[in-house]
Amino acid sequence: MRIAACNTDRNSPSPLVQDQAMRKKPSRPHSRSLASVLTAGVLLLASSCAWASVATTQPPLQPITINLQNKAALRNGALYTLHMCTACHSLQGMRYSSLPPILGLSKHRFKTIIGTNDRHYHDIITSNMPPSVIYAFTKILPPDLTYIARRHSPAWLYTYLTSFYVDPTQPTGTNNVVFHNVAMPDVFAPLQGLQKPILIEGLRYGSPAKIAIGVRPLTRGSMTPAQFDRTARDIVTFLYAVAHSHQQERFRLGPWIIALFLTLSVLTYLLYKLYWRRVMTSEERWWKINKQ
Ligand code: HEC
Repeated sequence: MRIAACNTDRNSPSPLVQDQAMRKKPSRPHSRSLASVLTAGVLLLASSCAWASVATTQPPLQPITINLQNKAALRNGALYTLHMCTACHSLQGMRYSSLPPILGLSKHRFKTIIGTNDRHYHDIITSNMPPSVIYAFTKILPPDLTYIARRHSPAWLYTYLTSFYVDPTQPTGTNNVVFHNVAMPDVFAPLQGLQKPILIEGLRYGSPAKIAIGVRPLTRGSMTPAQFDRTARDIVTFLYAVAHSHQQERFRLGPWIIALFLTLSVLTYLLYKLYWRRVMTSEERWWKINKQ
């Protein structure tokens, strides 16, 4: 993430100077409170200044609904991810052997339909290109996809994958609506075709700039727009499923766990009643003694 530096006034006392001033006179409470008020003021100024300098027009995210029960979508997503994206990205949160249960396949079917890129079945999914080669090409190491899919929402991932556009000012010749100056090349260009940006006047890190808020088709790819849209959705579904690999299990177990806790609550309440029936409070004892 690139964040513009905040302009600070050189003549104003820095928080460090104030901190030293605070240490020199610890015995005077009013000077201490003055120093803390000043520090709070400087911090407030710094944060508002930082906020002003990072204000950026945000492009809208495309909504997406994913269904983790849709095994066909998961398999199609796995096919594209394991054969296209792992050229550069790794999926180190996963082993090939963890995928068949998620995709609803047997080990044999998984090996025939999707394959393990000539790795062992129990290997972690690493990228197919050595990092040094990728680095020479993109000048940045592609992040791990399990980590990325946990960090971003499905809507962000879907918008990202569908909104690469032609930008001759970039070393890769492409840019992205939700990831300005992205170093990833447009790997979807052959399938989706090229796209041009929809630009508006906006702010980037506080400065006026042309902001891309969407894309329009420029050339045709090998897929129809509907087919490509399906593919992008399937990739996002697969990425979400592998990044949250226990979600389906949690959905299945959730109602049982809640039922278990409710039963335990009832049992604990009955036990509580049983115990307290035998306990005599001091008030009751008083009445008992006085009656005798
Ligand atoms: C040619 C190499 C290459 C291929 C193939 C590739 N990527 Fe990337 N990808 C990169 C690089 C490099 C970055 C880092 C971009 C940056 O930080 O500017 C990246 C970044 C990303 C990000 C954003 C990461 C972030 O920091 O938020 C996502 C999401 C992503 N890739 C998904 C994919 C998917 C899905 C595929 C497969 C369809 C794919 N990539 C194929 C090189 C590649």
